Amino acid sequence: MHELTRRLAIGLLASAGAAWLSGCGKGDAGGEQGGAAGGTSGGGAIQVGFAQIGAEGDWRRANSASIQAAADKRGIDLIFVDAQGKQENQIKAIRNFIVQGVDVIAFSPVVETGWEPVLREVKDAGIPVVLTDRVVEVSDPDLYVTFIGADFVEEGRRAAAWLAEAAGGEARIAELQGTPGSAPAIDRKKGFEEGIAQHPGMQVIKSQAADFTRAKGREVMESFLKSPEGKEITALYAHNDDMAIGAIQAIEEAGLRPGVDIKIVSIDGVRAAFEAMVAGKLNCTVECNPLLGPQLFDAVEAIAAAREVPRRVVTEAVVFTQATAAEDIKTRQY
Ligand code: AHR
Repeated sequence: MHELTRRLAIGLLASAGAAWLSGCGKGDAGGEQGGAAGGTSGGGAIQVGFAQIGAEGDWRRANSASIQAAADKRGIDLIFVDAQGKQENQIKAIRNFIVQGVDVIAFSPVVETGWEPVLREVKDAGIPVVLTDRVVEVSDPDLYVTFIGADFVEEGRRAAAWLAEAAGGEARIAELQGTPGSAPAIDRKKGFEEGIAQHPGMQVIKSQAADFTRAKGREVMESFLKSPEGKEITALYAHNDDMAIGAIQAIEEAGLRPGVDIKIVSIDGVRAAFEAMVAGKLNCTVECNPLLGPQLFDAVEAIAAAREVPRRVVTEAVVFTQATAAEDIKTRQY
């Protein structure tokens, strides 16, 4: 066992606040406190195993870079695995982290379900888990300590509110969904549907998964435009910027003007989205901040120091439009 893990385990068992290991975490403690608390009085780098989803787009690359840079800056011994978009690879990486005896396991789950067995193994090994970006659906809340990331439902609501206002409550909408089964695809769809429900003139007439990638965004949008309803589309809601950027290409190839003939709202706020807004081809992006590295390692360090950590850390969703894009792009970090 890694030296710090051994010390964490001892600290956890000795601590009155050792909610996570003793099985009386959030559920029993109540409130928003996850309460994983280990104990170490220093010495030796904290070793963290991180299983990243992959490198499907600009957002994910910025997220990985943030995690790697923050680990570097803080002297964290980071074992970073790219799971290439596959849950089975993430599970394999997590099992390897257990064998390696890391101090903390962190990951962004590609999909929401199917994690219970491996997370039980992690819990049995006495290793705290931190979720970043996406959450898991598990029956036992003590299988992870904290979840740091955006409120995806709220992002969907904000995208709907912007479109309702911009389109005067009347739109025939095409929707590009993210990876099936992933938290952002499920929640962004839900939030958007909630938002447009108050506007009878706004209807989603085409909706399909395009896996959060530019290539699929282009391909699916092309098929939407060629479908019998293609000519009716007046707006596009894409669950991320990369799919919107792919779709912009398909719209231009179909001889239409993205941002004008078809209003486009997406989510993430990556630099390329600002470039598209400056060019008048994308109308709005709802920011989902990928720079989660500092918050991740704040949590890791708190766990290592036996301090309480919040059960949920929510990052803010800011709405950006063409009106300020030329100015906003000057300070974009990703
Ligand atoms: O989970 C966050 C989402 O995943 C981002 O919106 C998207 O770009 C990424 O693939």
